[in-house]
Amino acid sequence: MTRALYPGSFDPVTYGHIDIISRASGFFDELYVGVLNNKEKTPLFSVEERVKMLEIACKDFLNVKIVSYSGLLAEYAKQSGINVIIRGLRAVTDFEYELQMAQTNRKISSSCDTVFLTTSLEYAYLSSSIVREVASYGGDVSNFVPDFVEKSIKAKYRGE
Ligand code: PNS
Repeated sequence: MTRALYPGSFDPVTYGHIDIISRASGFFDELYVGVLNNKEKTPLFSVEERVKMLEIACKDFLNVKIVSYSGLLAEYAKQSGINVIIRGLRAVTDFEYELQMAQTNRKISSSCDTVFLTTSLEYAYLSSSIVREVASYGGDVSNFVPDFVEKSIKAKYRGE
């Protein structure tokens, strides 16, 4: 059985992430979507909230499982019997950091390879931080995230 891991912060999940999940899930028997639980960062959404949002967003992808991890990505992948990490590339500006991360992960765990999928052009500009920025000013993020995510962001910025 082939299993891959698509890791990220997903704070929050966007249409760009869902596009990568949809395409990557077609290449593997099982796709884990891994939410980083980083205790040093203060995300907008808790790891539990991010996992829940991804579960709703991915409910139609039957071979996708949402998990959270803390610590090193390569170690988590190894423990989970995963040799393939999926990352999306939006533009050349992503490449330098992604290459460094892929090479570091391979150094930590030699069995860990990274497969890059280019983001669909319609989402090439999109990131979770842009979504948070627009939403924080009360802007419309309905083109960037599913409805239920938009509602959750609005509730967050209202302090609910
Ligand atoms: O969505 P992001 O924030 O670009 O995802 C980055 C992420 C979470 C995949 C990456 O920062 C990560 O997994 N960090 C965990 C710590 C780690 O393994 N660092 C070494 C890789 S260079």
